[in-house]
Amino acid sequence: MSGDEKAGTPAPDQVTPAGSDWDFKSAMALFATGVTIVTTHERGLMHGSTVQAFCSLSLSPRLVLVALSKDGRTMKYLAKSGSFAVNVLNEEGEELARRFADPTKTSEERFRGLDYRLGSTGNPLLNSALATVDCVVEKVVEAGDHVVVIGRVVDATASGTALGEARLPSVWPLIYFDRNYARIERKQS
Ligand SMILES: Cc1cc2nc3c(=O)[nH]c(=O)nc-3n(C[C@H](O)[C@H](O)[C@H](O)COP(=O)(O)O)c2cc1C
Repeated sequence: MSGDEKAGTPAPDQVTPAGSDWDFKSAMALFATGVTIVTTHERGLMHGSTVQAFCSLSLSPRLVLVALSKDGRTMKYLAKSGSFAVNVLNEEGEELARRFADPTKTSEERFRGLDYRLGSTGNPLLNSALATVDCVVEKVVEAGDHVVVIGRVVDATASGTALGEARLPSVWPLIYFDRNYARIERKQS
């Protein structure tokens, strides 16, 4: 790269993005992901919300990351608790995803009627989850209106799909794509 090309790269705080916020969100909506419920707790009170921004980060040590709204309740609970768990929803989890994304619902309403157990961190692990990853907070990085939370994995569980067992509906993931919930289409075998 020549000196001139480098000189043409603006500093991040000098960037005026092209297009509208809606255009940006539309582009991001075309990145298909699974759907998770991130759970946490503080002094015996559980909380959780629907989170798409989750990924595996490192094997040694085992790290994952989630990105949470700075102003959301989940981030407030998590900051106090110092731990969180990621629950990967199965394809029947659409109602749960909607419930845990509904800002009008209390913590109690979100967990009502759900079967769960507590991880060693005290975080709720949903029994219906395809996989669970229980973590303590390693690091938090503020980024715009969100916070990237890096978790050190305490325990991870996987259901049948990952173990190569029978592919029952409960071991297929819920997908979020283009602002809609979707399922993976099964190939006939
Ligand atoms: C499919 C889907 C994915 C979402 N992913 C995220 C996410 O990655 N991070 C986030 O902060 N909020 C995400 N949300 C929004 C939160 O679930 C929603 O704002 C929720 O009400 C936050 O709850 P809280 O204020 O109790 O934390 C998502 C919502 C949906 C429907």
